[in-house]
Amino acid sequence: MDQIVIRGGQRLKGRIPISGAKNAALTLLPCALLTDEPLTLRNLPRLADVDGFGHLLNQLGCSTTIEGSRPEDFGRVMTARTTTLTSTVAPYDIVRKMRASILVLGPLLARAGEATVSLPGGCAIGNRPIDLHLKALEALGAEIELASGYVKASAPGGRLSGGKFTFPVVSVGATENAVMAAVLANGSSILENAAREPEIVDLCNCLVAMGAQIDGIGTETLTIEGVDRLHGATYRVMADRIEAGSYACAAVITQGDVELVGAKASEMEATLAALREAGATVEETKAGIRVAMDGRAEPVTLSTAPYPGFATDMQAQFMAMATLGKGASLFTETIFENRYMHVPELARMGCDIDVRGRSAVVRGVDSLVGAPVMATDLRASMSLIIAGLAAEGTTEVNRVYHLDRGYERLEEKLQAVGADIERISAG
Ligand code: EPU
Repeated sequence: MDQIVIRGGQRLKGRIPISGAKNAALTLLPCALLTDEPLTLRNLPRLADVDGFGHLLNQLGCSTTIEGSRPEDFGRVMTARTTTLTSTVAPYDIVRKMRASILVLGPLLARAGEATVSLPGGCAIGNRPIDLHLKALEALGAEIELASGYVKASAPGGRLSGGKFTFPVVSVGATENAVMAAVLANGSSILENAAREPEIVDLCNCLVAMGAQIDGIGTETLTIEGVDRLHGATYRVMADRIEAGSYACAAVITQGDVELVGAKASEMEATLAALREAGATVEETKAGIRVAMDGRAEPVTLSTAPYPGFATDMQAQFMAMATLGKGASLFTETIFENRYMHVPELARMGCDIDVRGRSAVVRGVDSLVGAPVMATDLRASMSLIIAGLAAEGTTEVNRVYHLDRGYERLEEKLQAVGADIERISAG
């Protein structure tokens, strides 16, 4: 397996291009199942999860073509067309490797009136049930059965009726599935306490470009008037606010100065506020956002929350940054029950972190020491990269496939701003 090797201590300085957002791409791709016309997505990141989703679409009868595959291109253009669905089944083998596969459930149900999707099971960051996806779809008129590890959903009469659902807990994925199901329903739907992450706004804007009628975009109440059919569209995937935030943490821990080209400040206010709390200079530029740091980070107190709160997907990276801070930082993880898996690995590099249930106290130390480490999930892997960039000596990050799921050409982007980082291929 590949490894990333970092010799720490270099100040990051320069421009980092921010890719299209993974979590937006993974909900925009299944929109191609909602119409027989082509959906063209621009600025699609080159990531293992995006490729995996493309393969799943192919299995369902959607043809995909990709342009801009030259190695020097950031952002590809994919045209996906589902002239006819040839299958409505998302099998276990695919769903277990990529949880986001569950996002074909709503579109298949909307287009074909039926869908059979494997239950994804647990994952490294927690139990992650899909009960809210199913309850929301039931409220829109679906009948749901669970058998042999599969969800079998159908719409009586072949078409969902639409309906009203209030999410008891904010869920990004369940909101996405419900929106994609409601747009082709035979009536109107109201989704209350819906997630309003920028990726959901991106999804709604793409669906509107395809002819959907959605009101309240960007708020917690979405009102959707079902239409008889959607048409094709060309849509640009938003910039990855989590990738941008991750490189901002890397800039702070190395006391560097970077411009995150393409990042949008309005979509990452909580992250920028946390960077300022840590003492960083954060300013909007013509091309994106500049983040610069002089000296060690101030301690931060951060609690994860649904958007517009501080993102759970930024928790591990800020924690890595705080390990070399001036004092004690306090983190509280409210979204996922098991999202501190990076802590024992960071401890191997000399960090002082005390986890008590959902909270963690990070006491800043004077230096970190490179070590071989491995990670269990995407953001945890990134926290190890961030720590490695500032550690003395060499850090070897193993299980690089986690990073390849969500960070487009990580080592190349970091090398370009002065990091001493390389990928060692397993051959
Ligand atoms: N939840 C339920 N029942 C459900 C769905 C969710 O109890 O049916 C709970 C979850 O267990 C969790 C909370 O609700 O405690 C929020 O989960 P959510 O559904 O919002 O998460 P998700 O849709 O599965 C997406 C991102 C995650 C990100 C979360 C939270 C994608 C593909 N994934 O997951 O991204 O952490 O929202 O913002 O969009 C990552 O990129 O590293 C990543 C894990």
